[in-house]
Amino acid sequence: MRIPRLKTKDLVSITDLTRDEIMQIFRFAARLKKNAARGKHPNLLNKKSLAMIFEKSSTRTRVSFETGISQLGGHALFLDGNDIQLKRGETIVDTARVLSRYVDGIMIRTFSHQNVVELANSASIPVINGLSDTFHPCQALADFFTIYEREESLSGVTLAYVGDGNNVANSLIQCAALLGVNISVACPSDYTPDASVIEESQRLASASGSSLEITPDPHKAVKDADYVYTDVWISMGEEQAAAKKKKILSKYKITKNLLASCKKNCMVMHCLPAHRDEEIEGDILDSDRSIVFDQAENRMHVQKAIMCALMRR
Ligand code: CP
Ligand code: NVA
Repeated sequence: MRIPRLKTKDLVSITDLTRDEIMQIFRFAARLKKNAARGKHPNLLNKKSLAMIFEKSSTRTRVSFETGISQLGGHALFLDGNDIQLKRGETIVDTARVLSRYVDGIMIRTFSHQNVVELANSASIPVINGLSDTFHPCQALADFFTIYEREESLSGVTLAYVGDGNNVANSLIQCAALLGVNISVACPSDYTPDASVIEESQRLASASGSSLEITPDPHKAVKDADYVYTDVWISMGEEQAAAKKKKILSKYKITKNLLASCKKNCMVMHCLPAHRDEEIEGDILDSDRSIVFDQAENRMHVQKAIMCALMRR
């Protein structure tokens, strides 16, 4: 099995990777997944340690990283952001320097994306972004791996994202543009994805030969889609804006009526956790069109590939 060779030390955002590197990660993750299904787990991260700092809640990220590294012979340390000295004012720089003396990698879930950047710049070991207010790169990689598994080729595939232009949307846009997947994003003008992400991704999409469209019209966005994706309207840390956001985003719900505008075999995606009957009708998540639990499973396989690539150098 060929471990992906990455130029970057860290995975802070999708644009730390090239298209070729992402494809190496996908091929390696597919091998790990196939082996794991036969009960085979290569000891590739023997005795390696991953510190996982969580300043926000998590089910998938925590369990998939911890299980993934233990399957490969290493182990993870769960560090609750409220318990460690960061909470009492120790700087990110000092935290990075100290953890670099103990462990082989750091995964962080935090608020400001700048915290991830600072941690990565100050640590001598790899830093993996497990979600910031701006990006969720591990999620986007698992999502495109889920599509990759189902398609002969990624080029020509169209993904529609409907809803809040949030951290997940930003990473999906970057990943689609790099991989040459067409992406159409329907969101209200108050909640569009990050302007600099759109600008940079337009350039990446031109280079990869794909299209990137932002529209206020959900029916227009999903018309040619092979995959329709949504995420919660209220991300972690946005609770105070809930009432306003729910009102503005109410036209962006994934309903059977909206899916009637789609291709017949169009599949539905969600990074989870879902707020059933808020951003998506609950029975759509349970239908044959839904691949949301494949996405959740693939977090583990893809992150195992990422950890091998970053932590074995
Ligand atoms: N999708 C995702 O990151 O889930 P968790 O918040 O449960 O980690
Ligand atoms: N946009 C969501 C994703 C959760 C995995 C949030 O940030 O809460």
